[in-house]
Amino acid sequence: MFDDQMARECRRQFPGLQRCGSDGRPAVFLDGPAGTQVPEVVIAAMGDYYALLDEALQALADFVGASDAREIVFGQNMTSLTFQLSRSLAQTWSSGDEIVVTRLDHDANISPWVLAARERGVTVRFIDIREDDATLNLDQLQSVLCSRTKLVAVGCASNATGGINPVRDICRWAQAVGALTFVDAVHYGPHGLIDIAEWGCDFLVCSTYKFFGPHLGVLWGRSELLESLPAYKVRPACNDIPWRWMTGTQSHEAIAGALACVDYLAGIGRTALGQDLPRRAALREAFVQINRYETELVWRLIDGLVQTDGVRVYGITDRTRAARRVATVSLVHRDIPAGDLSRELGARNIYTWAGHYYALELVERLGLLPDGMLRLGLVHYNTAEEVDRCLEEIRAIVESRMCV
Ligand SMILES: Cc1ncc(COP(=O)(O)O)c(C=O)c1O
Repeated sequence: MFDDQMARECRRQFPGLQRCGSDGRPAVFLDGPAGTQVPEVVIAAMGDYYALLDEALQALADFVGASDAREIVFGQNMTSLTFQLSRSLAQTWSSGDEIVVTRLDHDANISPWVLAARERGVTVRFIDIREDDATLNLDQLQSVLCSRTKLVAVGCASNATGGINPVRDICRWAQAVGALTFVDAVHYGPHGLIDIAEWGCDFLVCSTYKFFGPHLGVLWGRSELLESLPAYKVRPACNDIPWRWMTGTQSHEAIAGALACVDYLAGIGRTALGQDLPRRAALREAFVQINRYETELVWRLIDGLVQTDGVRVYGITDRTRAARRVATVSLVHRDIPAGDLSRELGARNIYTWAGHYYALELVERLGLLPDGMLRLGLVHYNTAEEVDRCLEEIRAIVESRMCV
């Protein structure tokens, strides 16, 4: 039965109850209805949580190469963060201004900007692809940049062709005309080291579920911009960065997972070198290793695909340009719709995607709607054996169709 002795035992767990009044006697708290005192275990749990949130912000700062963890914003996903930022940035635009988007991008780096531009009477310049290898037409990009350009929104790597854009050059060209740059690094995240300092961008987004973590979007922005741009927030919310951008209740479990996935990747670098490197250095090494490994895998895959009857790979297939692609390969077969190929591979327990995977502008531009392309995406947990099995199964599917 709960009695006075148990009450006194409970009291010992409440640091606030140890307080004495000005007369030296213990203070008596009869204000529970307004809010009770808090026991040590709860204080510790909350302390751990704040430490975890700070640690997660720092981990993502290390992931993108930022020196200031206040420049990291967590959000529901990349798409929501981009819509949020586009509304704020658009407040700084006026009629006659221009923005630049590309046909190579995922629609989450197109529609938010196009819709915001429409609301503000701003002209949208679409950058096309080159016919031969479906890479960005950089000459066109350079030719549209002018003093009216307010923003260049560009992807780092295409989630369809795997092509890598020269982000550092693009940022330099944009900066020369006074335009801001927004880089979508969602697809690049699992494959290469993101380096906002090296690239010279103003904003960058990624999504932790693309690099072995939970569903969580991450925005990095220059502190002076995150501080000065109008943020859509409720009135009492903190106006300091990053909190003024982190609206409502966060997904704390996802944030905990985001920290863990960055540390997972850092662990690859530490294991490879056998050294307890600081996290950013460990990530740098991890991506050296991952890149070397994935490069071998992807060329094994591409070499096999281009030798398969009726297959056409969209994107870079010239080995001398290996550094300009990640390990994502999209293809079509002359006679078999991409959806059928994907379904048949699925029946053989090989899981792929088919369609446009939101690279809608690109797939339309290539004239491949509605079937789209089959996408084979390799990451560091895939093996050469899996690549060979996939190639064998594709050939078997092709041959079985030919016999019909
Ligand atoms: C290149 C690219 N950008 C943006 C997105 C959208 O990311 P999220 O699901 O976090 O909104 C994706 C998702 O597939 C993507 O591949």
